[in-house]
Amino acid sequence: MNKVVVGAQWGDEGKAKITDLLAQNADLIIRYQGGCNAGHTVVAHNKTFKFHLIPSGILYEGKTCFIGAGTVILPEYFEEEIQGLIKEGIDVSGLKINPLASITMPWHTEIDGYSENTAGKGKIGTTKKGIGPTYTDKMARIGLKIEDLYSEEALSEKLDIILPLKNKQLKEVYGLKTYTKEEVTALCRKYAEIFKPYVCFEWQKVLEDAKREGKAVLFEGAQGVMLDVDYGTYPFVTSSNPIGGGACTGSGYGPKMIDEVIGVAKAYVTRVGEGPFVTELKDETGGKIREIGHEYGVTTGRVRRCGWFDAVTMKYAVLVGGLTSVALTKIDVFDTFDEIKLCTAYKDTRNGEIYTNYPTDVFCHKYLEPVYETHKGWGVDVSGIREYNNLPENCKKYLSRLEELLEVPISIISVGPDREQTIFKINIK
Ligand code: GDP
Ligand code: IMO
Ligand code: MG
Repeated sequence: MNKVVVGAQWGDEGKAKITDLLAQNADLIIRYQGGCNAGHTVVAHNKTFKFHLIPSGILYEGKTCFIGAGTVILPEYFEEEIQGLIKEGIDVSGLKINPLASITMPWHTEIDGYSENTAGKGKIGTTKKGIGPTYTDKMARIGLKIEDLYSEEALSEKLDIILPLKNKQLKEVYGLKTYTKEEVTALCRKYAEIFKPYVCFEWQKVLEDAKREGKAVLFEGAQGVMLDVDYGTYPFVTSSNPIGGGACTGSGYGPKMIDEVIGVAKAYVTRVGEGPFVTELKDETGGKIREIGHEYGVTTGRVRRCGWFDAVTMKYAVLVGGLTSVALTKIDVFDTFDEIKLCTAYKDTRNGEIYTNYPTDVFCHKYLEPVYETHKGWGVDVSGIREYNNLPENCKKYLSRLEELLEVPISIISVGPDREQTIFKINIK
């Protein structure tokens, strides 16, 4: 069974924990989009591992872990991450990079930083890792791919096209430093060395063999459906496609290779950066969720905005994300809550209209109020529970209500950060 792990909210849902868990039974794990904007945490054997680009499956020996063609790679950051893992004694020999992945060049991070610092009201709150500008150049067909680093001729020809354009833009639009061809060529030589042990020019064969031999493939998404460049809260999104469909474009496999799409969602919602968030709690309750859930960013250390579970956006995520089941994480965070709210609709304060379908026009979100139903808390520490039937009744009621609203089953319930702190409601291992 081949599975995709997709973030179903605005990122940081606990995808890495679920990927790590499912990677036990996978042979090939492919990260399909995004870059080091992601911050993925895995807790295993009392140790915490933080990943940005490297698939969370790397903790198991003997698995092939691909950084797919749909990703963007910041070389220095990649090197830091890999060296960190090697220092921890992790075997990284199974790591492979698709040579079609894009490279984040220094001008991409510089433009990202400049745009954020000067955008005023248009600020997105990016991670400043050059994600938007790298994908922009990829789409404009003036980007560099990993494979370009290994052909002096191709690189030279490409730089002759890219650099005059880029330098004009850097100087005249942004007032930023320009680059000489010699400088960039030297940089690319350095990058070629960084990636050399991992670049897999035989990636087609690896994918074909895995398909022919019926190997289990796990597709790992970063970010989340609501940050998808096509379906998310545009323009407050990232620049790639975290949705289930992104697994195809980003990995090199077609849709028929996918059996299950597991959408990871927290029992509440968090968001980092700017953009609409209808169920956001700016009060004590939001603070309580943040403190108990340790809601601070892995990549940027920023405070995560917190709010109640939003079944309106989640239902939308089920549709556009292509979800076949949900992995619900962090239910343990509610152990001490007397009441838990669940947003089932939005009310338009301009005319009183009620929406149960997600309105994609984010401009109107400032006029929307959440319509809540209130559930009783369970007042029990669930972090040690491993069987669905042993969960407190109020917790089971809350989960059943979610399934009813979302019209997909909950397959996994996560009751703590550790690999072991998991309940499989449906056996999808
Ligand atoms: P990702 O980006 O989706 O992989 O998620 P992050 O790693 O950015 O953030 C999720 C955080 O929640 C991490 O610190 C995880 O260790 C933690 N976590 C994951 N699942 C659970 C859970 O069920 N309960 C609690 N308390 N923490 C969890
Ligand atoms: P993981 O994989 C949460 C957010 C940023 C910003 C917007 C655009 O850990 O869930 P970008 O740097 O991508 O151009 O920023 O997207 N963002 C994330 N938020 N989790 C992430 O990744 C994110 N990656 C990007 O905060 O609002
Ligand atoms: Mg994260």
